[in-house]
This record gives sequence, structure tokens and C-alpha cells, in this order.
Amino acid sequence: MKMTDLLAKKRDGLPLSTEEINYMIQGYTDGSIPDYQMSAMCMAILLRGMDEREVLDLTMAMVHSGEVLDLSPIAGIKADKHSTGGVGDKTSLVLCPMVAACGLKIAKMSGRGLGHTGGTIDKLESFPGFTTELTEEQFFENVNRHGIALMGQTADLAPADKKLYALRDVTGTVPSIPLIVSSIMSKKLASGADVIVLDVKCGDGSFMKTPEAAEELARNLTRIGRLAGRRCAAIITDMDQPLGTAVGNALEVREAISVLSGEDPDGDLMRLCLALGSCMLTEAGFAASREEAEQLLRDAVSSGRALDKLAEMVRAQGGDDAAVYHPELLPQASVTCEVPSLQAGTVSRIHAEAVGLVSMGLGGGRAKKEDRINPAVGVVLHKKLGDVVQEGESLATIYAASEASAAEAVEKLRRCYEFSSGPVERPPFIRKIL
Ligand code: URA
Repeated sequence: MKMTDLLAKKRDGLPLSTEEINYMIQGYTDGSIPDYQMSAMCMAILLRGMDEREVLDLTMAMVHSGEVLDLSPIAGIKADKHSTGGVGDKTSLVLCPMVAACGLKIAKMSGRGLGHTGGTIDKLESFPGFTTELTEEQFFENVNRHGIALMGQTADLAPADKKLYALRDVTGTVPSIPLIVSSIMSKKLASGADVIVLDVKCGDGSFMKTPEAAEELARNLTRIGRLAGRRCAAIITDMDQPLGTAVGNALEVREAISVLSGEDPDGDLMRLCLALGSCMLTEAGFAASREEAEQLLRDAVSSGRALDKLAEMVRAQGGDDAAVYHPELLPQASVTCEVPSLQAGTVSRIHAEAVGLVSMGLGGGRAKKEDRINPAVGVVLHKKLGDVVQEGESLATIYAASEASAAEAVEKLRRCYEFSSGPVERPPFIRKIL
């Protein structure tokens, strides 16, 4: 088999066979197929597409490029969740304890943040001592004993995706549905959960700018998951503004704790967690309908079991759980300041990605993999889409490590907002459940 023949085939819009896809992924992972040929293949796939059989073959070839986690030492059904990424997305911190408090086991691999979106691991590391560096045995034992564990993604999980994603990032080939689906699903399938729920974002701050594109991605993700033998559901949610109010690691943990404590029961974050959680519980057979599942989840919150489950997980992974009940013990920024609005009006737009960059500029995110983050810094928004603002009223609070970085963030944050003189209609936040 020759890669040049495969390139010519895909260039001409022909499907690649299972053997050809396996040969290509194996060769790229072991280095025998060079970056320049794989770049051309990614572009051919982006332009010509792939049929469903090819996407499934590509996904499975990537799954088998590395370690495949066998979760069978954990009793019962195991669930996992994936989000296509967003600013202020602290969903896992709320959703996972809530679902685990209903008895469904959460075995989740998470990543660190890079660029304007934060990673769940970075957020959880705001709890002093908390670690996600668990061995496989510890991970299994924690899920068996506590019903929940979050582990850092191991280097050997879908290594083909790691190489391919880095290549796509610099060759203009990220926005291809077959490539996105195989990338996301290879990692999820290799992580071993029986139930996979996907939060597909659409809008300004996400890859999929339109609801139609997001729905196409969501349908493809769930289809491939089901063909691979897993129970899958997807939710399409709006990302035209940051999720909730906090952007920044410890600040997002604080917000997650307040939502898990039952404050803001009808806010976007809680609604999203209820929607994702009810998909998880129904797919796992823990509830007969989404309504019944939602009631189970609300009971877990109102009884305090969901918050206790977060504390249990933090303790089991070496963290100081006192901060779960006393969030003032979380890392605190040395400088705080308000962002007074320079005009009156109704908030018509908040540039989500730009808000993420403000937090990153304060030290809350990484520009490079090796950068250290400051867990205390970030932004808490007081005004969201559709809110009426008076001149001089605070749009947000900045949490910074120095007066100079705070002053710079105030200016940048103001530029994230746009106003209109009339009322502003918010698009539906949860657009579809598939
Ligand atoms: N997230 C991934 O893991 N892969 C993609 O290709 C896009 C988003």
C-alpha cells in the first residue's frame, strides 16, 4: 500500500477502505508517514468528506493507536461527558457530582486548558492538594468506592489524535466534521465509558458558528458512538456569551459550589447540568423519562447529597474538602476592581472568546503548555445578554495579581461588551437534545 495512492483516491472523492485507513493511521502514529502527506490527506478529507463507514473506521483506527481503557473492574454502568469547549464552562464540576449522587458512576478523563478556555483539571486543582494523577488502579478503586473519579488524560490515550490534532491546528484543517468526530470520539471510546453525553456548543465562542452546523456535528458524534456500541446523547447549547458568570479557575469552582448548593436553580448552568444529567440517567436506565431524571437530580441538590459528593471526590483525590463548604478558603486574588460601564443600554453582545482572553491575560490560562496558571485570578460578570445597564454601573469584577494587570483587564473587558438602545432577545440557550 502507498500513501500517494490513498491521497489520489481521496483527492478524487473516492472512499478509503478499512485497510487503507488502518494503514494510514498506523503509519502516521509510528512516523513512517510524514506530516506533509498527512497534511494533504487532512485537507483532502476536509474538502471531499468521508462517508459514515469511513468515519467509523477512522475513529476506531485512532482508538486502537494507543491504550484502550478497560473499565470492567468497575461494577455497573459508567458514564462520561464531553464538551466541545467554552468560556466559563464549569459544567463538569456541577454535573459529575450531581449524577454520581444519583448512583450512576462517573469515570471521567479530563484535560488541562490551553488558550482562552480552561480545563476541568486546572479548575479542580484550585482545591489545595487535589490531584488527578491517579494510577489506573486508584482510578478504578475511587469510582468503585465513591462513585466518581476524575483522572488526567494519559499520554497513551489515542496518540494518533494528539499528533493529528496538532497538525490540523497549523494546516487549516480543524473544521472538518469527519476529523472532529474521529478526534473527539476516539478519545471518548478509548476512555471506556458505557454512556457518553456530548455538549456541542454553537455560536461565536465555538467551532460551530451556526445551529445547523452544530446539529450536523452532534448527529455525527452520537451516530459514531452508537455504531461503536455505546449509549450516546448530545445537547446543542448556545455559546454566544460565557456560561454562567465566572471565568477563571477558583472563581468557577466557587460558582459551581453555589449552583450545587441550590443557589440559582433556574440559571443557564443549572439548566444545562439538568439537561445533560437527565440524558445520562435515562441512557443508563436509571430513570424512565427525562422528567423523572430531572427530579432525581434536583433532589440530589436540595438534599445536599450533590455537594457532599463533590467534597467526597475532592477528599478522595487528596484535596482539602473544607473549601467545598467554605469557598472563602479557595485561593483569593490580591487585587479586585470593578468595571463601570461607560454607557447606558441593554447588553446586546458579549464576546465570549475575548472574555476568555482577559482571564488568560490575568494569568488564569495558558498560552503555552508549560505556562503556570494562577488559580485566583479571572473575571465575574454582573451583566449578561439582555440585561439593562446604567452608566457607571459595574459590568464585572476583575480579580488580579497586580494593580497594573487589573487596570489593563478593565479596559479589555469593557471592549467585550456591546449595547443596544432597545430590548434584546436572547436566543434559546438549550437549542436541541438529540
Ligand atoms: N475537540 C477535539 O478533541 N478534537 C477536535 O477536532 C475538535 C475539538
